[in-house]
Amino acid sequence: MDMSRISALAEMASGIAHELNQPLGAIAAYSQAGSRLLNRPEPLVARALDVFLDINTQALKAGEGIRRIRRLFDQTEPMREECRMGELIEELRPVLELMAQAAEVALSLDVPASLPEVSVDRLRIQHVVFSLVQNGLDASLQSGGESLVHVNVRADRYHVETSVSDSGAGISDDIRDQLFVPFFTTKRRGTGLGLASSRAAIEAHEGSIGFESPNRGGSRFWFRLPITRP
Ligand SMILES: Nc1ncnc2c1ncn2[C@@H]1O[C@H](COP(=O)(O)OP(=O)(O)O)[C@@H](O)[C@H]1O
Ligand SMILES: [Mg+2]
Repeated sequence: MDMSRISALAEMASGIAHELNQPLGAIAAYSQAGSRLLNRPEPLVARALDVFLDINTQALKAGEGIRRIRRLFDQTEPMREECRMGELIEELRPVLELMAQAAEVALSLDVPASLPEVSVDRLRIQHVVFSLVQNGLDASLQSGGESLVHVNVRADRYHVETSVSDSGAGISDDIRDQLFVPFFTTKRRGTGLGLASSRAAIEAHEGSIGFESPNRGGSRFWFRLPITRP
């Protein structure tokens, strides 16, 4: 097995552990409590029944956690259509503008109309754009000053590259290697799934995704998709 496969498995295992630890811990505690309630001269049946319901809820939660991870690493072939990144982003524009307004961050889209076509699963790629813009807005919000998120699409001979730049604080060296690891988050209410699921989606399209730290500050996340007919 090659290294990238091993590390993907390690990531998946840590994601599963993360999803299951909490419900499994709760199930262990509730089942102990349940047996204490029943294992006495006058068993407290009604309270024990409540505890069984709690155990059931936690077990369902564990199952949902596993399904979430499986969707995240969904290896099924994407449902592809020929389309232009410009159209995909135009379709998203109202949503992106609402998000930017709510965050009080200026949003600019620089999306040339005549770019080569890519063959993509529209929803999955739109979800990637959405996740990157959301992160850009979060980052710009956190660092005061003038806040700006910029979406840009361009093409070379082989790829269409979409990028999202922000005026946030940038990415510090100590977390650079962890950004795409499932459940890695530095946000109080973060899920840590945005970049991990984006990478899974882009790689399912034989594309690549990455980021850089421009000299002017902030960060720039990009993804490249192969052009259908170069
Ligand atoms: N544009 C960005 N600027 C600075 N840090 C970022 C940016 N995008 C992502 N990150 C870092 O990567 C982490 C993971 O991002 P993500 O997978 O989208 O999860 P979440 O947004 O839920 O935290 C974030 O918590 C943040 O620390
Ligand atoms: Mg995110």
